[in-house]
Amino acid sequence: MSSEHQAEREEHVTRQVLESFAGSTTPRYREIMEALVRHSHALVREVRLTEQEWEQGIDFLTRCGQISDDRRQELILLSDVLGLSMLTIAANAPEEPTATESTVFGPFFVDGAPEVPFGGDIAQGASGQPCWVSGQVRGTDGSPVAGARLDVWEADDGGLYDVQHEGDVTQGRGHLFSDEQGGYGFWGVTPTPYPIPHDGPVGDLLAAAGRSPMRPAHLHVMVTAPGYHRLVTHAFVAGDDNQRGDAVFGVKESLVADFVEQPAGSPNPTGRRLDGAWRKVSFDIVLNPETRTDERRSIPSGRREGA
Ligand code: BEZ
Ligand code: FE
Repeated sequence: MSSEHQAEREEHVTRQVLESFAGSTTPRYREIMEALVRHSHALVREVRLTEQEWEQGIDFLTRCGQISDDRRQELILLSDVLGLSMLTIAANAPEEPTATESTVFGPFFVDGAPEVPFGGDIAQGASGQPCWVSGQVRGTDGSPVAGARLDVWEADDGGLYDVQHEGDVTQGRGHLFSDEQGGYGFWGVTPTPYPIPHDGPVGDLLAAAGRSPMRPAHLHVMVTAPGYHRLVTHAFVAGDDNQRGDAVFGVKESLVADFVEQPAGSPNPTGRRLDGAWRKVSFDIVLNPETRTDERRSIPSGRREGA
């Protein structure tokens, strides 16, 4: 068969599949599914995918599903290591340069973590060096945001989140609210670099690519407040070499903060009894108001068509 015939046979398949989405329930669903078909079919053509390779791909996705449960989210991991999570964040980033930047959500957030008061301890027995985290929540116009909800979560100094330990402990996570001046403060542990779970299919993917599973040390922060866009971000620890090779591409320079070591015995903000050295970090948060972003984000229709 000539290469012309071959190309026509392949295009016929793609055309048929595209047409099958003509009756989609919403235009947006049709737009996304057609793009999925176009791009995935282009991949098959570009690499001349063999049937055996496609079976391996199906097997990989099957294993991702099988290993997932309410504590293990392999498909989030897959999205993260392929950079799809960070690309989606970049595609939706507000144009407001002063707003705190977003980064990956990751698979370890748990709904319903306990509330801690100002000065409370989210570690709740998680191992690690005590760390005082404080700052102010403001809008992009500089005004303090009172009553903002901060959900925070982090791994212990063994690099594990509570949900990765046996049993039902809640450690290294909680939520709190900013005060009248937008201020917040809580105790946690000093973040440590850790590998993302790599004993499953996503770990196999990283190994086959010669990639490291390491993430730089970080604290997760999610901030919600009425009238503002939800912010999902991290505070990264300055001086951590792992920032150059984050397995999930989540590092942003603006999110790197000094976690300053304080000698044993030095006074601490809540008068807590501490046995050794501790750290403190100041991490201010600037939220993007809902209306302002939404107005700026309306893309002229000409640009959309060309995209
Ligand atoms: C995390 O930071 O918790 C995380 C993010 C992406 C993949 C795995 C873990
Ligand atoms: Fe994390």
